[in-house]
Amino acid sequence: MYRTHTCGELRLSHKGEQVTLAGWVQKGRGLGGMTFIDLRDRYGITQLAFNEEWDADLVKDARKVGREYVIQVTGEVIERASKNSKIATGEVELKVNSLKVLNASKLPPFTIEDETDGGEELRMKYRYLDLRRNPLKENLMLRHRFAIESRKYLDEQGFLEVETPFLIKSTPEGARDFVVPSRSHEGEFYALPQSPQTFKQLLMVSGYDRYFQIVRCFRDEDLRADRQPEFTQVDCEMTFVEREDILQIFEGLAKHLYKKIKGIDLPDFPRMQYDDAMRLYGSDKPDIRFGMEFVELNDLAQNKGFKVFDAAELVVAINAPGCASYSRKDIDKLTDWMKRPQIGAKGMVWVKYNEDGTIKSAVDKFYSEEDLKAWLDKCDAKPGDMLLVLSGGVNTTRKQMNELRLEMGTRLGLRKQGEYAPLWVVDFPLLEWDEDSQRYHAMHHPFTSPIAADMELMDTDPGKVKANAYDMVVNGVELGGGSIRIHDRQLQKKMFEVLGFTDEEAQKQFGFLMNAFEYGAPPHGGIAFGFDRLVAVSAGQESIRDFIAFPKNNAGRDMMIDTPSLISDEQLHELHLKVEQNEE
Ligand code: AMO
Repeated sequence: MYRTHTCGELRLSHKGEQVTLAGWVQKGRGLGGMTFIDLRDRYGITQLAFNEEWDADLVKDARKVGREYVIQVTGEVIERASKNSKIATGEVELKVNSLKVLNASKLPPFTIEDETDGGEELRMKYRYLDLRRNPLKENLMLRHRFAIESRKYLDEQGFLEVETPFLIKSTPEGARDFVVPSRSHEGEFYALPQSPQTFKQLLMVSGYDRYFQIVRCFRDEDLRADRQPEFTQVDCEMTFVEREDILQIFEGLAKHLYKKIKGIDLPDFPRMQYDDAMRLYGSDKPDIRFGMEFVELNDLAQNKGFKVFDAAELVVAINAPGCASYSRKDIDKLTDWMKRPQIGAKGMVWVKYNEDGTIKSAVDKFYSEEDLKAWLDKCDAKPGDMLLVLSGGVNTTRKQMNELRLEMGTRLGLRKQGEYAPLWVVDFPLLEWDEDSQRYHAMHHPFTSPIAADMELMDTDPGKVKANAYDMVVNGVELGGGSIRIHDRQLQKKMFEVLGFTDEEAQKQFGFLMNAFEYGAPPHGGIAFGFDRLVAVSAGQESIRDFIAFPKNNAGRDMMIDTPSLISDEQLHELHLKVEQNEE
């Protein structure tokens, strides 16, 4: 038997017992004739005590073991003289009477403690060591809880977990595919799924009624903190449902997860129209932990001689509470921040409503105090507040103002850790116009149904059609998205037409789905959650990387196994990827 207990298990109630532990040496320290070792495993840390008075040889042995050695010790559980309330085993220690080194360790390249001295690159390269650290371990344990509780909830709701293939044909989720060359079919390729979208719809045609899968998806797209080239979805689909049924079930899932795992009762999720989200927050994933909503000032600010505003499609303000105290320098700094290429604002107008009731602005030349007071009133500003105003084209100005709002929210401490503000964003546009290719793209994906009221617009003005689509957003992060699907072959055909597919192209790429629609396809709809994001957001973090055991870095590389990497000439040949050299 390697051990009788784990390193997280011993308490005062074990006092006097002989136990055996096995684990990794976190660190050792000598204190006169005594030596202490912190022994670590997945479950915790137990202090081992050695004393020259008990056994001088054993102290010598203990001083020889280095960090990360794997050792086995036997001894008696005793009460500690100085207790450590920070760890669960902190009331006891082990009076060791035998020590065995099970395996030595090289000196690790960084310290394996909660706060480590290792840089990002190094830790990615030695991920298996980084994973020994508590913060990462806790993240993976949290992820496990989310997976287990998701399965429990969905099972209770009658969902069936079905696996779908990884070697498939392109799925149109809007990113590039990762492709896999076929050895036995020269010149042909599989694509890895960007999502199981078409398969889950086919399962509905097969009558499976409620499907789910916790599944890896692959997307070759630019990486960001909340995006990985391979990530996990909780992917779901349901038959004979309307939007409301789906929102209820999956709001239920989110509430179940937060209650069971975090002990938090989430409030009912408000529903927000996409158009309102864009108008009030400049984002389809608003962080509604705080207000600071956009106020449009076109009617008050235009035609008063200020050319910049007169020429703008949109003049929009936010009220930054308590910020009238910003100095000229503070404002200049904020303006520079807005002018960085990542945001690209041309400038920013401020209006201070001073504590003494006076009003001061960057545009005093063009506006009377009365004019400015009307702006302040429209924005519900109080003495001590400051308006920040941007102008320009509608879309770009909203985007910039979204950044400014989030930044001010952060500065003012309004995006509180531990607070969760979920919502549904609904009624997205069905299509978005792409200037580069001069055609429409599906905003969600091409299987999304238009809302019933807009069906006729499909022929006359497709750009105006709203989709029966919804996103779940928590704290400004899109956690999941889905839609009611098209289940009618003719409508699906129409959709492909609007997207600029010829009949032939549509048939070639999605013939299998359109054919299936001719064999009794039921009305259906679904949703997929970004599982990595779901877990990260619940832990108050934006980056999903440390919630994935073996993630890729920002350049899409796995630093540990060092890939992508070259393959041998022989493999290239077999896969028909090597152009033959002319043999002379
Ligand atoms: P969508 O493309 O919106 O929908 O994806 C669903 C959710 O997956 C997460 N997500 C990602 N997470 C990490 N890294 C990525 N690269 C990444 N891309 C997406 C997001 C997103 O909300 N088939 C549809 C779902 C459906 O209609 O049922 C789909 O995949 O949290």
